[in-house]
Amino acid sequence: MASLNRALPMARSSRLIPNISGIASPSVYRLTHSPRAQSRPLHTTPVPLSKKSTEKPTYPTPAAPGGSHARTDDTITVEYPESGDLPSSALVSGTGRAGSNVFLALATFSLQGKVGVVTGGARGLGLVMGQGMVISGAELAIVDLNKEEAEKQAKLIVEAFKREYPSAKKLPKVTAHYADVSDPESVESCIAEIIGAHGKIDNLVTSAGFTENFEAIKYPIDRMRKLWGVNVDGTYLFATAVARHLMERGSKGSMVFIGSMSGSIVNVPQPQAPYNAAKAAVRHLAASLSVEWAKAGIRVNCISPGYMLTALTQKILDDNPDLKKQWTSLIPQGHMGNPPDLMGPVIFLLSDASGYVTGADLRVDGGYTVT
Ligand SMILES: NC(=O)c1ccc[n+]([C@@H]2O[C@H](COP(=O)([O-])OP(=O)(O)OC[C@H]3O[C@@H](n4cnc5c(N)ncnc54)[C@H](O)[C@@H]3O)[C@@H](O)[C@H]2O)c1
Repeated sequence: MASLNRALPMARSSRLIPNISGIASPSVYRLTHSPRAQSRPLHTTPVPLSKKSTEKPTYPTPAAPGGSHARTDDTITVEYPESGDLPSSALVSGTGRAGSNVFLALATFSLQGKVGVVTGGARGLGLVMGQGMVISGAELAIVDLNKEEAEKQAKLIVEAFKREYPSAKKLPKVTAHYADVSDPESVESCIAEIIGAHGKIDNLVTSAGFTENFEAIKYPIDRMRKLWGVNVDGTYLFATAVARHLMERGSKGSMVFIGSMSGSIVNVPQPQAPYNAAKAAVRHLAASLSVEWAKAGIRVNCISPGYMLTALTQKILDDNPDLKKQWTSLIPQGHMGNPPDLMGPVIFLLSDASGYVTGADLRVDGGYTVT
């Protein structure tokens, strides 16, 4: 596995967050509380002249657009690294109960007897959500471009389960599968492989996706198509394939699409218009499919995470502490999220505990989008 140190020179050569120090240091107040905003002229009305004056009218300096934070910075460019250029993600420990039934919990949160699929599950958020599904009783199929990493993590999930549930009578079945989620043929053969291994699919989490930062007028069209292909087509292809399987079986099921708060707001300062639009599409796809498939007993919901600390975001922020200050200054809870923060929300939405919830967008963002 290539180390992150290998990934970074590549990222730097594509101008990984240069000039971040040039960003105005963040303030805990927004817009009208900014001293800069208060000293700015409020309008650009011409200054009145006397009737006899022959001078040309003069205008005050036009006001700069308002706000101290609400700006994208075109100099920020981040290219998503090639697969395998990031380090392995760590699993979560301490989620078990040292033997089942030590604490009481609602049985409807259990995924016992279910088979779940998580795309993009070899790393980051997908990996931790997959682990949460296994801890909650499901069999799991990890789908990823990076099959080697998926295989490694599948074994680690079972080992972690053994440690946390030493008295468990049965070990979970966790398998790893290759798919490029943006490719229909790859998706179809992957689904067939999973059904061959597990016998069925009940739950789906679509976490395969990525972001990049380029100012819109310079976004390479091939990269933009790839970004939409993975985030939007990939979600659609997996969801429809699993829905067909559920309908053929006459079984109900539950799906969670991983969108982003970027599907509802515009992040600053990094420019990422295509990603934002793609995540808005993912959110509305969940709503639209939830209506179309309600009669088949298939629920479809979306989780929209805010800024989460994963290997990629951690490294970017280590190199650019000003950016972290700017991001966190906009989060009411005052800090970025951690991947385990998604475990509870995803299990809730996959399980019978949310039986009457469909078409929802659950924002897990520390309050970012309500300010
Ligand atoms: N990290 C965040 O702050 C954050 C915030 C909001 C939303 N999200 C979304 O959450 C999801 C997961 O993000 P992450 O931070 O865990 O990313 P990540 O890069 O750590 O993991 C993504 C995984 O998807 C896989 N993948 C990429 N393209 C694929 C393809 N074509 N087919 C199959 N697998 C593919 C990668 O190999 C990787 O294992 C993404 O959809 C992302 O947009 C992330």
